[in-house]
Amino acid sequence: MEQELEKLNHEAVEALDNVCNHDQLEAFRIKYLGRNGQLNSAMRRLGSVGKQDRPRLGKLANTIKTSLEDAFVNKQHVILTTAASTDSTTPDLSMPGRRAAYGKLHPITQIMEEVCSIFANMGFSIAEGPDIELDYYNFEALNIPAHHPARDMHDTFYISDSVLLRTHTSPMQARVMEAQQPPLRLIAPGKVYRCDSDITHTPMFHQVEGFLVDTKVSFADLKGVLSVFTQKIFEKDIPLRFRPSFFPFTEPSAEVDIACVICGGDGCRVCKKTGWLEILGAGMIDPEVFKMVGYDPEIYSGFAFGLGVERIAMLKYGIDDIRLYYENDLRFLSQF
Ligand code: FA5
Repeated sequence: MEQELEKLNHEAVEALDNVCNHDQLEAFRIKYLGRNGQLNSAMRRLGSVGKQDRPRLGKLANTIKTSLEDAFVNKQHVILTTAASTDSTTPDLSMPGRRAAYGKLHPITQIMEEVCSIFANMGFSIAEGPDIELDYYNFEALNIPAHHPARDMHDTFYISDSVLLRTHTSPMQARVMEAQQPPLRLIAPGKVYRCDSDITHTPMFHQVEGFLVDTKVSFADLKGVLSVFTQKIFEKDIPLRFRPSFFPFTEPSAEVDIACVICGGDGCRVCKKTGWLEILGAGMIDPEVFKMVGYDPEIYSGFAFGLGVERIAMLKYGIDDIRLYYENDLRFLSQF
């Protein structure tokens, strides 16, 4: 009987070793540890062994039973945890983590920062003004009185008769000059709004206003500053064209075009087949504007310019539709 119990124990330990899944474990339990299993039937036969051997063999049978039951519980734990880690609904903690996607600055913000840093390196300081502006600063203080035909050029979003979304950054000329005395050398970056939309116009866009006021400032200074700026922003010499124009707050006035980098000057839909794209308006500050802020135009002169940031971004990156910047398509934006 002793040999029979030892053999049964040996067999059961080996069988448990080979168990790999829940079904095999259950089959093992029924075969060896179940009510009618081999261990219980061996124990039932202990009644037929001699009285003197019965306590020793009974003890041996109990030891074997306890150790097999412990081994069974351990195996059950191993099988349950293995099954949990291969189950597709349970996270596998050993897998490498997913990387968080990095956000980036919008291409227009990147260009805006580049434009500001180029002018900052030329000694211009930076001022910011409100997007919601008074009619007075947007128009009146810039020599554009009510009913002046130049107001039509702006397609203004009015909030009330005297309050509007600024149509350009030029109101900052009046705001700063009203508060500070020359010499001044400033840029004012910001958003501006016009009821306007096509491949080179958006209803909200960015401008950087720049102005310099001192004694003996000339148009040559304006040309010099803008030539250095375009050379730096496009990182090469690009032909610039000063075209005579009109702004009520500058005299003389010019619009500045650069050779279209999209078609190389051959003519395309962006430059409307002209080979040139307008990037800014500029001129010498009109004496009337100086008078309104209390500067003496006999003493002071100055230049001002307002450049379109989206236009510069289009030309720098070769984008042929300005509206792409604001469609929020990540496939487009993540390229910058
Ligand atoms: C002005 O806004 C003047 N305030 C510029 C100025 C400042 C002149 C100082 C003299 C002295 P203009 O409307 O031309 O000018 O706009 C300036 C630039 O903004 C344009 O050259 C163009 O690059 C850009 N721009 C104008 N409208 C839009 C638009 N709807 N979408 C995108 N860019 C535009």
